[in-house]
Amino acid sequence: MVKPRIVIYGTGRYGCDCVRMAQAKGWPVVAAFNRAGSKVGQDIGRLAGLDKDLGVIVENADIADYQAIEADIAIVTTSDRLSHNIEGYERLLTAGLNVLSHGTESYFPSAADPILAAKIQRWAEDANVTFTASGIWDMSRIWSGILCAAPCIGIRALHHASRTNLGMRKVHAELAGIGLSHKAFQATRVEQAGPIGELYKLVPWQVTAALGFEVVKVVERREAMLFDRPMYAAGLGRDIPAGEPAGLRVLVEVTTAQGVSAHAHIELGLSEKDQMDFMRWTVDGEPGSTVHVDREVGSVGSATSMINRVRDVINAPPGIQEVFRLGPAKHSAFDL
Ligand SMILES: NC(=O)c1ccc[n+]([C@@H]2O[C@H](COP(=O)([O-])OP(=O)(O)OC[C@H]3O[C@@H](n4cnc5c(N)ncnc54)[C@H](OP(=O)(O)O)[C@@H]3O)[C@@H](O)[C@H]2O)c1
Repeated sequence: MVKPRIVIYGTGRYGCDCVRMAQAKGWPVVAAFNRAGSKVGQDIGRLAGLDKDLGVIVENADIADYQAIEADIAIVTTSDRLSHNIEGYERLLTAGLNVLSHGTESYFPSAADPILAAKIQRWAEDANVTFTASGIWDMSRIWSGILCAAPCIGIRALHHASRTNLGMRKVHAELAGIGLSHKAFQATRVEQAGPIGELYKLVPWQVTAALGFEVVKVVERREAMLFDRPMYAAGLGRDIPAGEPAGLRVLVEVTTAQGVSAHAHIELGLSEKDQMDFMRWTVDGEPGSTVHVDREVGSVGSATSMINRVRDVINAPPGIQEVFRLGPAKHSAFDL
């Protein structure tokens, strides 16, 4: 098999994970971009923690020449919001590069922002390239939901539940508002979307649409997770007192034209020491069905999931191709 030539756009944690994984597979990393700062000017191999240079210097994304790049795909790992990523998408797609994004709104652009989705669709079609987002949600939240319904001949309702421990790293704890006062939590995580709000509603929305239902209404509600005892937040190095915000609970209701409803109950906060992250789909149908995914905290599974989608995206038709259109995610153990 021809080795895909990779571009990395956003050379942070996941961008660097992808560099190391591409290197392990012998896939050439041919260019790398980041916004201005200390990463620009460094060799991407060293920056990614390899013990050698790859001969590719991280370029300033705002002033680079994209037309000169000869590559098969660009992996974008900058942020979750379409509005933040859109400039990079335009640069890469109009230069004729397939784009595989890690941004969570990009899993389902037409639902997150129909206006920006239409632009992405036009750039991708004009250049005859594909736009897709993947990451850990691909298998754990999206394909697990689609496959859960596979044995059913009738469906009344879909239920998605998950628990993610965001207490281990400071940056994650802050995203979920762990340790904020009630007043600050209400203002910045409930009344405003904050850093995570309105992202997780895309999960039941996308799965319901992928199963063929016409989604007519989606409502996301957010509230603080509270415990009746102090909970230790390792990322903050302190206990969160009983009754204080210890995470964000996201509750989603999806209504369809066919009368089938979907519900999500998503906990993003502190967990007990021995509790593993999980994602679960249950179909209330004929017959009932459940798929349960356990996930180790700190796994690099989001970067590996992207790497495993590289060939699917390169081979997909032009335009936005959400992962539900690409078939179930597959391993790449033999792709060396
Ligand atoms: N799809 C999924 O299932 C999934 C799962 C987990 C996480 N994510 C998302 O993946 C994203 C990346 O996470 P991460 O941990 O790798 O973050 P990170 O370490 O902060 O890396 C992001 C990198 O992108 C750079 N950057 C940000 N905005 C940019 C722009 N407009 N143009 C060019 N470069 C830009 C940052 O530059 P600086 O050096 O200036 O910071 C940084 O180097 C996050 O949004 C995260 O929520 C998605």
